[in-house]
Amino acid sequence: MDKRYQDQVVMITGAASGFGKMAAERFAAEGAKLALSDISEEALGAVADALRANGTTVVTDVMDVSDEAQVMAHGAHIKEALGAIHVGINNAGIGHNLAPTHMLTTEEFDRNYAVNTRGVFLCMKVQLPFMLAQGGGAILNVSSAAGLTGASMLSGYAAAKHAVVGLTRAAADEYARKKIRVNALCPAFTITPMVEEMAEQVSSRGGISREQALGSITSRIPMGRVAQPEEIVQAMLWACAPENSFMTGQAIALDGGLTA
Ligand code: NAI
Repeated sequence: MDKRYQDQVVMITGAASGFGKMAAERFAAEGAKLALSDISEEALGAVADALRANGTTVVTDVMDVSDEAQVMAHGAHIKEALGAIHVGINNAGIGHNLAPTHMLTTEEFDRNYAVNTRGVFLCMKVQLPFMLAQGGGAILNVSSAAGLTGASMLSGYAAAKHAVVGLTRAAADEYARKKIRVNALCPAFTITPMVEEMAEQVSSRGGISREQALGSITSRIPMGRVAQPEEIVQAMLWACAPENSFMTGQAIALDGGLTA
């Protein structure tokens, strides 16, 4: 079978962990060349080394997605080393301490917005000129089920992720005639380091076990369970695939029925 991403250049942020790391592995298995970035140097290096050992072309930069100069420098590096970006997976993101809105610090709110929203905006600013010059491309912004519905104790995160859906819809409209598809992915709780940390917080605050904490996190999900990372990452490859050529501007919920 043909590889869906043979020789396509795929830029993935937050590639050192969780969804981003698995996406890098899956896109590589489908023939892609990768531009990977993360704020965590050591973990990113380990991911890139393993992929290169399997013969994948990988360009890396350690960067903070909220920092315009660093994101633009990453774009320049990709231009010089790979000459194209066909697919952008804007995945880097952070949670924040669980708190009701009046207790959430303004600093945490601002930092969450800077990483989760401005980071996506800056990466799109890098990706879109490549795609305009190439005559097309696909962008997938990682939002959240909290980008579609309220998330108690996570209002800063929910606000930032709703904004990602807005950015996605506007850009989809703007670039549709240029053959650039822009979609958002809205997963609910999936076992990655981010959710492990959240379970830890719920557990220590409530004096309950990790399993009980996960149970309380998932009690609102009709399927009654968290997702596995592969259930989310397969949708990244599906959403950006060339055969998925008529889907744009969508906020794709993968949430066990949470927002049904
Ligand atoms: P993760 O914590 O395993 O991975 C996130 C990666 O982003 C890490 O490698 C981290 O170092 C990197 N990162 C954090 N801040 C950064 C910054 N300022 N600049 C560059 N890289 C940075 O988390 P996970 O779960 O894989 O999250 C990936 C995306 O999926 C995030 O946008 C998250 O909000 C979203 N998401 C996750 C859900 C889940 O249940 N795990 C549910 C819904 C959305």
